Amino acid sequence: MQAVALWTAQANSSVASLIDHLIDHDDRLTAMPDPIRDLDDAVEPLNIVHEAADGYLSSLADRKVRDIAALARLGDLHHALPADGVGGQKAVAELVDIGTATATLSSGPRFFHFVIGGSTPAAMAADWLTSLLDQNAFSRASSDFASAVEDVALEWLCELVGLPDTWGGALVGSATFANFTGLACATHWWGEQYGVDVTGQGLVAVGRRMPVLSGGYVHPSARKALQMLGHGRDAVQVCAADAIGRLDVSALDRQLAELDEPAVIIGNAGEVNAGDFDPISDLADIAERRGAWLHLDASFGIFAALSPRTAHLVHGMERADSIAADAHKWLNVPYESGFALLAQPQRLGHAFGMPGAPYLPSPDSPGAGYGLFGPESSRRARALPIWATLQAYGREGYRAMVERHLDLAQRMADLVDDAPDLERLAEVPLCIVCLRYRPADVDDEDRLNDLNRRLGAELLTDGRVYAGTTLYGGRLALRPAMTNWRTSKHDADFFVDVVRELGGRVAHRSP
Ligand SMILES: Cc1ncc(COP(=O)(O)O)c(C=O)c1O
Repeated sequence: MQAVALWTAQANSSVASLIDHLIDHDDRLTAMPDPIRDLDDAVEPLNIVHEAADGYLSSLADRKVRDIAALARLGDLHHALPADGVGGQKAVAELVDIGTATATLSSGPRFFHFVIGGSTPAAMAADWLTSLLDQNAFSRASSDFASAVEDVALEWLCELVGLPDTWGGALVGSATFANFTGLACATHWWGEQYGVDVTGQGLVAVGRRMPVLSGGYVHPSARKALQMLGHGRDAVQVCAADAIGRLDVSALDRQLAELDEPAVIIGNAGEVNAGDFDPISDLADIAERRGAWLHLDASFGIFAALSPRTAHLVHGMERADSIAADAHKWLNVPYESGFALLAQPQRLGHAFGMPGAPYLPSPDSPGAGYGLFGPESSRRARALPIWATLQAYGREGYRAMVERHLDLAQRMADLVDDAPDLERLAEVPLCIVCLRYRPADVDDEDRLNDLNRRLGAELLTDGRVYAGTTLYGGRLALRPAMTNWRTSKHDADFFVDVVRELGGRVAHRSP
């Protein structure tokens, strides 16, 4: 037996050295064309992007947000898969050329649609660094650096918004995934109340549906998270006081008392139509009294904590169990960057650990990392832009930016109030102005809705400024949001001018 083992070892080692020899010395192997190794300098394609950056960034302030005429260039992308590639420089140059001509200028100052921040200079550079280093932020074993930066980024985020240092969390791709993460922990907690580990046994072992209660502001993303978790998006019992969706606090409390079983409350800290908030402290009181899990969807509203002018809106947030938020919105870091924060961060390892694979660490081992604390396993080091931007501009820099946006929103509200053909539909507690075009000679609600629907479409076609429409208490409205660090008074004023100009044009055109 020993002789056989010795012979096998010798044979293996000589096969290995033969392969090494072939790779190093055999002309046939070294001469085999390998375009990825032979054609390209690794740095030159990066230089092409770098060279384009200056012109692109300085054009953000003046070019159309969406240039429909340029979109014809998108056809250039659709050629056949090349058998022999053109090399990195040509490929990247082509993409830069088409991309800078056709991209929506959503990182620019006149993009008021959805709630989309831009990318601060430090965050953007750190995002490039993320690709340069190409770390797998799965575990400490895959990258000590990425894990350490994520530790600090999460600590800083908690500190920035005033959460105790016992909180923790994980960086995820978006607020939808942050909602998913918080609600996955809530689901695990809910199973525990029935003595069930839902991560192993599944929801079926509990044998009933998890009750979820919220106000009418509940965002589709929280419903999507419930849908992905197997609760179903219709699980939410909505307690709304009116057609706007404002929370009926006593109805929610009553419903929980009647249910008399473990339940989850979703509080909405910053809703998309007008930037309003559920009363967080009231929800925290109810959650404590009824023993419920309180999850907050604070996708952009969390940053209200940064200014003494708006901190009251998130008062009581530290009494929640989980919070979902986005860095790619008001923190102005590049996509994809969300974060989930937990009062009991150890719950993440329970909900997202992957036991059973001998080559992987367990969530409580020193080699573990954020791949075991959130929905993704292999993941990019998305902490780098967050770390860099917070290090670059600090708490005061972000307070100043948030307050500038609060001022811009108030300024736009004043302009709307002063304009004879515009109507503001809601208070402006944060950074969103909810308004509609309303010429003096049109009173009929259906006609106004039709007019504003056509105005919304016209705005997106025109492309000089960009905002979306919504239904606010049944009235069709525009809802510009100010969260981009580049946006100035001039941009806010320009938005109002363009809306009035296009509104007048649409009103005079028959439907
Ligand atoms: C309140 C709220 N929650 C969740 C989301 C979803 O965010 P994301 O697109 O990053 O998943 C949004 C997006 O606008 C939002 O406003």
